[in-house]
Amino acid sequence: MVEFIKRGWPFLTYVARFGEGWIGVPSYDSQVRELDLYTRRGCTALSTVPGITLNDGNTIPQLGFGVFQIEPDETAEAVREAIEVGYRHIDTAEMYGNEREVGEGIRTSGVDRGEVFVTSKLNNGLHEPDDARQAFDTTLSDLGFDYVDLFLIHWPLPTLYDGDFASTWKTLEEFHNDGRARSIGVSNFQIGHLERLAAETETVPAVNQIEAHPYFANEAVRAYGQEHGIVTEAWSPIAQGEVLDDPTVTQIAENIGKTPAQVVLRWHIQRGDIVFPKSVTPSRMRENFELFDFELEPGDMDEISALDQGEGGRTGPNPDTFAHVPG
Ligand SMILES: NC(=O)c1ccc[n+]([C@@H]2O[C@H](COP(=O)([O-])OP(=O)(O)OC[C@H]3O[C@@H](n4cnc5c(N)ncnc54)[C@H](OP(=O)(O)O)[C@@H]3O)[C@@H](O)[C@H]2O)c1
Repeated sequence: MVEFIKRGWPFLTYVARFGEGWIGVPSYDSQVRELDLYTRRGCTALSTVPGITLNDGNTIPQLGFGVFQIEPDETAEAVREAIEVGYRHIDTAEMYGNEREVGEGIRTSGVDRGEVFVTSKLNNGLHEPDDARQAFDTTLSDLGFDYVDLFLIHWPLPTLYDGDFASTWKTLEEFHNDGRARSIGVSNFQIGHLERLAAETETVPAVNQIEAHPYFANEAVRAYGQEHGIVTEAWSPIAQGEVLDDPTVTQIAENIGKTPAQVVLRWHIQRGDIVFPKSVTPSRMRENFELFDFELEPGDMDEISALDQGEGGRTGPNPDTFAHVPG
């Protein structure tokens, strides 16, 4: 069976089309290596994570593992477990207070640092350029790495720092130019914020990490990203569990023999977005990883998309007014 899949693999998935975006798929050799690892672990489902090519030419795994609200003393173990399951993309932030343990988890996982895509984010109190420079140094030293794969401005904070997130972005451009942030992007940026960056700065963000799930599809910001080469990363992809009891979701899950979480995460994947569900529960980490051996029919995709409640479905703060600075 494995030999058959190895032979058929490049023809099946050399380039795959998901939702509205073309997605480059990792090389044949790396797919076979992942497949062998996966098979050795005794897994029966075929699950290889596609890579998405960013506007700077770098590739990011479309599925990762989020560590928001994982306690520092549980983080290294959770990261090791996630890597054992097969995740090769970890999303952290200075604000989460667990960068040090993310680094430890990766270093003790048995997988090379270069195999894991690591994202971190600039904390809200540190938007002034000198503060941002110091914060980035601290992020690297806490992680214990000499580079991150992706560094983001966590929130635009348009009502703080004279609304000058453009200067903060120019500081991230320095980190990109000196090679310590291989890609740079933003998080929670609204269309107006992205337009301002386009008018005042040189680099188009590689990604915009925004709240998105079936109850808050965040379509306008996603559409702006698609038009301007900015890949959307969907945070709280299962709305921290809130969408999993929805009758539309549970019915589709029952019809196709998948779990509600798999259905919702697969909906994101077929829309072309990047996701990194968080879980400290190993069985859920595995469940959330098994998204690439099935496909949702267009009718199922439409039904899930119809659950969008617009602004009413937002669970997190509104980026236009959010001004929290951790004490
Ligand atoms: N940029 C931003 O402002 C921002 C904001 C929020 C989040 N994020 C990023 O996005 C990541 C994901 O978002 P999130 O952590 O807010 O929420 P999420 O991934 O939508 O949901 C996590 C919650 O769902 C539960 N869960 C996970 N898988 C499940 C499954 N298969 N079945 C049932 N329950 C399941 C988890 O419980 P257990 O852990 O107990 O298993 C946890 O309570 C974060 O970790 C972070 O990296 C970014």
